[in-house]
Amino acid sequence: MVDCAGCAAKLGQRALNDAVQGLFEGVEYDPRVLVGFGTLDDAGVFLLNESTALVQTLDFFPPVVDDPYMFGQIAAANALSDVYAMGGTPLTALNITCFPSSLHPSVLNAILRGGLDQCAAAGVSVLGGHTVDDPVIKFGLSVTGIVDPNHVWTNSGARVGDALLLSKALGVGIVTTGIKRGLAKDDVQGIAIDSMRTLNRGARDILATKCIHACTDVTGFSFLGHLYQMMRASNTVARVSSANVPLLAGALELSKHGCVPGGTQRNKDYTGPHVHVAADLDEALINLMYDPQSSGGLLAALDHNEAKAALAQMKAIGLDASIVGTVVEVGQGSIIVE
Ligand code: CO
Ligand code: CO
Ligand code: CO
Repeated sequence: MVDCAGCAAKLGQRALNDAVQGLFEGVEYDPRVLVGFGTLDDAGVFLLNESTALVQTLDFFPPVVDDPYMFGQIAAANALSDVYAMGGTPLTALNITCFPSSLHPSVLNAILRGGLDQCAAAGVSVLGGHTVDDPVIKFGLSVTGIVDPNHVWTNSGARVGDALLLSKALGVGIVTTGIKRGLAKDDVQGIAIDSMRTLNRGARDILATKCIHACTDVTGFSFLGHLYQMMRASNTVARVSSANVPLLAGALELSKHGCVPGGTQRNKDYTGPHVHVAADLDEALINLMYDPQSSGGLLAALDHNEAKAALAQMKAIGLDASIVGTVVEVGQGSIIVE
């Protein structure tokens, strides 16, 4: 529930998460709580009846791009993604907005319109929201959906032999840093922005026709960070084939030029001790695997044959998806990168 890419503030998003998480230790949950705070899953799940459970999540962050309308689209795609990552169908949403009253209200209007349009595309009704006067713009949504309680996709079900399928290319953190520094070319920017505002609905609908053992979305903690959470929760070890990791156009070149956001090093510090990297791999490529992703793709563990079928279907709808690795053995959640 707490994996927002944009909130990597001075303390580090993770330090804040740890502080909040501590509050929930030892909390006794109602037995209808199927997924609660403690398991680092994307959203909470609450059982309503035999066939339906409620999925709830909340995500908001400061602007990742200059265009307010596109920022609204990206923030909405990101917030909706946590419901898709649980295998759920989002139904309703509420806006959460911080906006300085000193700025022209047309900017606020554009952000909210971007969010509304993306929710409409997802078939989600925005029921309302709340706006606070604040010096730093932030926008996101609280999203409510439903899921079959017998098919909730958590982090913890990956099995030895599973393929790991990723539905979007990596590198939006590095490209948005390149945009801020004036280094990213227009076409590189456009591709990254399109990736961020792409809903994970299409990927979820394809995965929903397969038997998914574990699923999450790749966001602020990076590809390797979220994969580590999945491997740790599943008590398994993953082998990642770096040659198969999909990268956004231009991202590797920007990474080679040292265009790396601060969150990358924090992700490396946290997840790095659990990752064994082949000695000959390029540091610029490794940095892309630790790159914080605002509104990244779904990462699923499933049988190889099913993964191949899902990959073909994802490519057919224009997703830059790839089978990035395999679950190789039982273990305590480490990752081998080759
Ligand atoms: Co999130
Ligand atoms: Co998530
Ligand atoms: Co199943």
